[in-house]
Amino acid sequence: MKYAVVTGTSKGLGASIARLLMEASVNVIGLARSKNQALENADLPGSYQHYQVDLANIEQTEKTFFKIINFLKEQPIDSLQLVQNAALVSPIEQVGKQTTEQLTSHVHVNLLAPMVITNLWLEAWRDRDIPLVLVNITSGAAKRSVYGWNAYGSTKAGLDRYTDTVALEQEKLETNNKIFLFDPSIMDTDMQGEIRSADPSQFVDVEQFKNYKTEDKLRNTDVVANVLVKRLLNESSIKNGDYYSVKDVF
Ligand SMILES: NC(=O)c1ccc[n+]([C@@H]2O[C@H](COP(=O)([O-])OP(=O)(O)OC[C@H]3O[C@@H](n4cnc5c(N)ncnc54)[C@H](OP(=O)(O)O)[C@@H]3O)[C@@H](O)[C@H]2O)c1
Repeated sequence: MKYAVVTGTSKGLGASIARLLMEASVNVIGLARSKNQALENADLPGSYQHYQVDLANIEQTEKTFFKIINFLKEQPIDSLQLVQNAALVSPIEQVGKQTTEQLTSHVHVNLLAPMVITNLWLEAWRDRDIPLVLVNITSGAAKRSVYGWNAYGSTKAGLDRYTDTVALEQEKLETNNKIFLFDPSIMDTDMQGEIRSADPSQFVDVEQFKNYKTEDKLRNTDVVANVLVKRLLNESSIKNGDYYSVKDVF
């Protein structure tokens, strides 16, 4: 059986990835703070199981993954994928005007949780003969500085370096595991709504992002998810350590 664990499935890109995988007979385990009733009620070839978790809470995240791993260890698995998609963009604010709580949550969700989860994941499956596929969702913000996105750019850049390093280790260890990055570019999601609602004093490029919406430049999440899911369904096409972007396709 094919299984995929996807973080951030309550809405946006994660919800689209989960549904497209389920349509392709992959059983999805989704995580987010809120539920996704549409996925839970969906009558598709692949099943959906939801775990409510706040990824900012690392202890809760660890406990949740222990439960997921224990469940999966009882299943007959021939394909196991992990899609780390959940993230937040806030705080959108210049440095010097943020709270420590905002920064802690941000770094926990965007960087520490993916690191803790990857570590548990590789340990859990080390002695099993299942080649793993892991994908981390990145952003163009990892590679360029944006006024007000100091936290977001830093955690996405950290995630990029982390993913590259894990890829290097897995290659040297000859595990056959593959980990890669996927850049979805700009999409029409709540995250973009939050970006547009920032004050120009917090985010100087806010007008440009408002124009992306009015000029219909934001991609639909189903279209973007389809690009990633096509690759996930063709595991032999995945290159360990790859940087894959929706812009490579269109
Ligand atoms: N939208 C864009 O234009 C864009 C561009 C480049 C990269 N990206 C990246 O694409 C990915 C998906 O973004 P999106 O636009 O789909 O975002 P979104 O619509 O805001 O959805 C974010 C998802 O992450 C989950 N999440 C956030 N905080 C969480 C927490 N503390 N605990 C558990 N789950 C949490 C949310 O679930 P709950 O709120 O229910 O917890 C939700 O399911 C992210 O990695 C983002 O950085 C987006």
